[in-house]
Amino acid sequence: MTAIQTSGLGKVYTKRLTRKVVALKDLNLEVERGEIFGFLGPNGAGKSTTIKLLMNLIRPTTGDAKILGIPVTEASSRKKLGYLPEEPNYYGYVTAKELLEMVGRIHGLSGPEIEKQSTEILSFLDLPFEKRRTIAGFSKGMVQRVGLAQAIFHDPEVVVLDEPMSGLDPPGRKLVADLMLRMRDQGKTIFFSTHILHDVEVVCDRIGIITGGQLRFCGTLAEVISETFSSYEVVLRKVQPEQVRNLKAKGFAAKTFEDNVKVDVSKEDLPSFVDAFVQHGTELVAIEPKRFTLEDFFMGFIDSAEASSRRT
Ligand SMILES: Nc1ncnc2c1ncn2[C@@H]1O[C@H](COP(=O)(O)OP(=O)(O)O)[C@@H](O)[C@H]1O
Ligand SMILES: [Mg+2]
Repeated sequence: MTAIQTSGLGKVYTKRLTRKVVALKDLNLEVERGEIFGFLGPNGAGKSTTIKLLMNLIRPTTGDAKILGIPVTEASSRKKLGYLPEEPNYYGYVTAKELLEMVGRIHGLSGPEIEKQSTEILSFLDLPFEKRRTIAGFSKGMVQRVGLAQAIFHDPEVVVLDEPMSGLDPPGRKLVADLMLRMRDQGKTIFFSTHILHDVEVVCDRIGIITGGQLRFCGTLAEVISETFSSYEVVLRKVQPEQVRNLKAKGFAAKTFEDNVKVDVSKEDLPSFVDAFVQHGTELVAIEPKRFTLEDFFMGFIDSAEASSRRT
């Protein structure tokens, strides 16, 4: 069964009665059970809008969404669902433990279950247990971790996290990544949004790239790597100067580096290129695949989205 499914999901906000903002357009997404899905996009891309639609906090203009096969308009879709909002905000006068007790009671957990869960989660997320420390005195990173604790408190099957790493320092980010991997190992599904590339590289099974309210790419990191693969860098030694001139004349990017010559060669040209040089007594030092980074891949979508928004 699919954990999260959207079909034709779209949202248009109306500002001051007349101005319309197309925040999300025709989103068709399927997140399988047991995967970590990273929803990657720049600010204003439509990530939080999608997440609020999944949580039924706002109503769609088009399409619909389901969690574990149940339409999000039914309250039962949220029984096995945990949610971390973009900017978690809690009563300042309660302690982390008191907040979790309340969350546990809302979810119908027993007293001993609440006690066991809060001890485990508070210690895993490195949050204070003491009665004296109320949330009002917490740093932004601590509030973020309280938010995570309440999202996973009832041991949900599906967790939706809106920018879970924001406001966290590197150890905090690692903690969240470890938490996600631990949950995935328990068979849970995690859907999280981020604008930080590194976050998706660390934990994701699949990623979706959204810009300007539209999903531009959806696939595994391995697919990203193959899409970003561009050519090979071939390193040769004992190349005659006239051969280098020939290469440049044929349009190859050849750089001389001490005794070596580095040449960019496409996938298609590689076999004939190598054959030709080896037959002439040239030494082959290395053949290395060259690829764009995930950052180049991501920026490509942003640049093309900006170009198309300028055209409209
Ligand atoms: N309540 C709202 N009213 C009007 N426009 C909104 C509202 N919420 C979001 N938007 C607009 O919708 C677009 C997508 O926003 P959002 O989903 O918050 O993006 P992200 O989470 O990717 O940064 C942005 O252009 C934003 O300004
Ligand atoms: Mg957002």
